Amino acid sequence: MIQIHTIEEWRDYAAQLRSAGQTVGLVPTMGALHEGHGSLVRRAVADGAVPIVTIFVNPRQFNDAQDLAAYPRDEAADLANCEAWGAAAVVTPSVHEMWPTSPATTATTVSVTGVTELFEGEGRPGHFDGVASVVTKLFAITGPARAYFGEKDFQQLAMVRRLNEDLSLGMTIVSCPIVRDEDGLALSSRNVQLDGEGRRVALGFSRALRAVADRPRTARDVRAVVRTALESSGIAVAYAEVVEPLLLDPIGNQHEGTARVLLAGVVQGVRLIDNGDVTIVSSEGE
Ligand code: PAJ
Repeated sequence: MIQIHTIEEWRDYAAQLRSAGQTVGLVPTMGALHEGHGSLVRRAVADGAVPIVTIFVNPRQFNDAQDLAAYPRDEAADLANCEAWGAAAVVTPSVHEMWPTSPATTATTVSVTGVTELFEGEGRPGHFDGVASVVTKLFAITGPARAYFGEKDFQQLAMVRRLNEDLSLGMTIVSCPIVRDEDGLALSSRNVQLDGEGRRVALGFSRALRAVADRPRTARDVRAVVRTALESSGIAVAYAEVVEPLLLDPIGNQHEGTARVLLAGVVQGVRLIDNGDVTIVSSEGE
């Protein structure tokens, strides 16, 4: 496995792989890697792609300076993990390399409307523009045939799919299921910011998802059950919605079939998200 720091070296490396006829698989991350990230790299290996992992804590997607400062970093552990998972290269660019004008704003912003408006878009102004801008840059430098994203960040995944379509980037976006700890907590780099009590509270997310996954329910029932489960666990709820899985439109009374529950809340000052499938039955005429 090689480590790359500069855009020039990174672009050349990916170009060489392509001209050798190999499938480049990009795995974008912000580091503090765990088995959730590992599942993306392993999936790229399983697909026969050459996995390039990027580790870049992108300041443009943090709307809160304190959140950026508190974001966990552990490059040595990240490199060891990437090697074990089968990455071919890890790219660790500096902020200056990626955004040379930083901290002054960069003139160009990529902005996806629609799917980004609600949920994380509402709670974190500017966040998705920051993500769209950085991933577009990663795609432009790497030129991957395949790019790997986790369902953990369900709205981000929906946005990247839109971006890939709208700008005809021609990549295959591969979505990977949420990896959880044995107790059900979705793995997240932010979990290290919780103590034992915070972790116990955060288990309310997976408990809420399990509570509505047992049988088909009306959308109204799903909203009520997840909200009660979150609140009774001590989570300060940011949102608890049930949406259509591609466009993320909140679903109405006529909807039938698979939908996605999106949850966000704050535990010990840490904003956490989770999501899962539910089956919806129409409540029309109820
Ligand atoms: P980060 O939070 O490091 O996540 C990188 C990728 O790992 C994302 O696609 C995310 O959905 C996936 N991931 C995280 N936890 C997971 C879990 N428990 N199970 C499955 N996949 C998981 O998302 C970002 O970074 C950034 O916004 C980025 C796309 C890199 C742009 O800066």
